[in-house]
Amino acid sequence: MFFVFSSPAAIADHLSQHLVELIRNKPDCRLGLATGSTMEPVYARLLQRMQKDAPDLSRLTTFNLDEYIGLPASHPQSYNYYMHHHLFDRLGLDDSQIHLPDGMSSDPDHECRNYSAAIASAGGLDFQLLGVGTNGHIGFNEPDTPFDSLTHVIELSENTRLDNSRFFDNTDEMPTHAITMGIKDILDAREIVLVATGEHKADVMNLLYRTPADPKMPASALKLHPNVRIYLDAAAASRL
Ligand code: GLP
Repeated sequence: MFFVFSSPAAIADHLSQHLVELIRNKPDCRLGLATGSTMEPVYARLLQRMQKDAPDLSRLTTFNLDEYIGLPASHPQSYNYYMHHHLFDRLGLDDSQIHLPDGMSSDPDHECRNYSAAIASAGGLDFQLLGVGTNGHIGFNEPDTPFDSLTHVIELSENTRLDNSRFFDNTDEMPTHAITMGIKDILDAREIVLVATGEHKADVMNLLYRTPADPKMPASALKLHPNVRIYLDAAAASRL
């Protein structure tokens, strides 16, 4: 389940190759995508590979894990903006191929129900990419989120607000709530890869390694899934 690589670049190299093969073998695949600084080298390497030898992307569908409530797509810290900037704009995907929860919806609960329904009606996710928070959150499923949860509105924990406020010039702008795919939506994916890099993820990876599936540690839900790989660089694996 745990795989240790020498560096974030080595993970990006391996994972981008895997994603290209996945799309080539199943051009109509549904990919669950993640944001965060961990994914930046992965998407950069994926773009490099695609520039050289692009698979057919015309039937690809993507679903992102989460989005802040209250940030418009034009806000540089919104996940919509992140995905367009780091990946979508340079892949030339059509808007109809891309799905992100709408954090500006006037009816977030309705948006959540629609989002899980859209994943199911697309046929479910073939692959889900995940990062992890320092408190073990996946997507924005904070500790104590039920493992059977579908897409829902979540109040961000103090820990997550502190971690992620570094991206905001003015910390008051950091949203208090988000929409996230639920843990059940994530576990329903056929294949899952979680990536954690850097020394600041070493404690949470130690905890994940030792914890049996327990809602207090959201990433531990992955232990209930038959096809999960956890990719760590040497720094994140340093306390296993
Ligand atoms: C955010 C996202 C997660 C992501 C996590 C880790 O809170 N909601 O999906 O995995 O941050 O981010 P980073 O890769 O920047 O450490």
